[in-house]
Amino acid sequence: MDSDNKKTQKNWKNSLLYLTFIITIVHLTRQTNFSRKLTIDTKTVRIKKTSDLPLRFRSDGTFKILQVADMHYGNGILTRCKDVLASEFEFCSDLNTTRFLKRIIHAESPDFIAFTGDNIFEPSSSDAAESLFQAFGPAMESRLPWAAILGNHDQESNLNREELMSLISLMDYSVSQVNPSDAKIDGFGNYNLRVYGALGSMLANSSVLNLFFLDSGERITYQGLRTYDWIKDSQLHWLRHVSHEPEGQEQDPPQSNDHDTTPISPPALAFFHIPIPEVRNLFYEKIVGQFQEGVACSRVNSPVLPTLVSMGDVKAVFIGHDHKNDFCGKLDGIWFCYGGGFGYHAYGKTGWPRRARIILAELEKGKNSWTQVQRITTWKRLDDEKLSKIDEQILWDRLFSG
Ligand SMILES: *[C@@H]1O[C@H](CO)[C@@H](O)[C@H](O)[C@H]1NC(C)=O
Ligand SMILES: *[C@@H]1O[C@H](CO)[C@@H](O)[C@H](O)[C@H]1NC(C)=O
Repeated sequence: MDSDNKKTQKNWKNSLLYLTFIITIVHLTRQTNFSRKLTIDTKTVRIKKTSDLPLRFRSDGTFKILQVADMHYGNGILTRCKDVLASEFEFCSDLNTTRFLKRIIHAESPDFIAFTGDNIFEPSSSDAAESLFQAFGPAMESRLPWAAILGNHDQESNLNREELMSLISLMDYSVSQVNPSDAKIDGFGNYNLRVYGALGSMLANSSVLNLFFLDSGERITYQGLRTYDWIKDSQLHWLRHVSHEPEGQEQDPPQSNDHDTTPISPPALAFFHIPIPEVRNLFYEKIVGQFQEGVACSRVNSPVLPTLVSMGDVKAVFIGHDHKNDFCGKLDGIWFCYGGGFGYHAYGKTGWPRRARIILAELEKGKNSWTQVQRITTWKRLDDEKLSKIDEQILWDRLFSG
């Protein structure tokens, strides 16, 4: 346990004030038919900056995602690193996590960043809002669209899960959402992001890749035993529905000259924090990457895997939570990939570099333009001198699977 940082009354009051401000803004923007320049008592209030939306493939036919798992951000420079060499300890803090994030954004130039939970960590965070702003700082500075979900630790400081997701959804360039507006659903941070085809292509107005984000909850006591939460039926019901629902009306089905280029249900990727119990079975299977610690999951096995299998569109799932696991393994035809621990204040394995996962989706070249997704690959980058690239593999290829 960390005892380096004690919460102060002052910080607590600041966040409360801040939160009140945020809630007021949300309330007002709902009422005022959303305008960028909101006026309150003749003063103009700044609304969050947004990137060019919708998310879409580049004109070179690629879309690259950076997965950042388990930053465990605390109070910045005051928060010491865990599991680094004794010689590295003195000059190591949360700022090394920040530095890694900046380096990897620069090196990989992703189109989108997905933070898969335990972004911040109490007891090291004395003010959740402050920690979030520091943790996501490089993402906001990069002006790239980014999204986050919560892990089991994020709410341990002074904001609860709903407040955290509200705040995250309002941060600059964030495309995170609290929950679908039309469904009653468990948890906070269940949403779907659609990635559109390349500009100028036949599928420029259609989503060709779906990104599903799910809240896998926190620690709970279930039947008298401490365990982790699980993805509930309400969430799976929503997921099944959203994966098959036609796109919104703004996207007419494209009139295509290329044959069979209109994906009925485009391939999808899912992101959540806590692994499902079946991931344990991968210990006996062929995997790419390291299986170095037990899978910490819920005692309750909710039907996540059968749901994903029956949906058919989800090709890979990206999880975090177990920092010393960074492998990809296949369960019933679906890849489950750990991000590998990213944050320096998160526990890790001394001498085993912090790491991040990259996911690359590439479009198929039609007769006249880019069409649907052809291939999805992944690799990892280590926070060493050369940002070494390791474990590159194909997750899905339209040629070899349906
Ligand atoms: C942390 O960052 C400092 C410079 O900001 C660097 O000197 C140090 O080597 C880094 N430590 C680790 C473990 O990466
Ligand atoms: C996509 O929508 C834009 C704007 O409505 C339109 O100009 C363009 O022709 C559409 N492209 C396709 C391929 O349908």
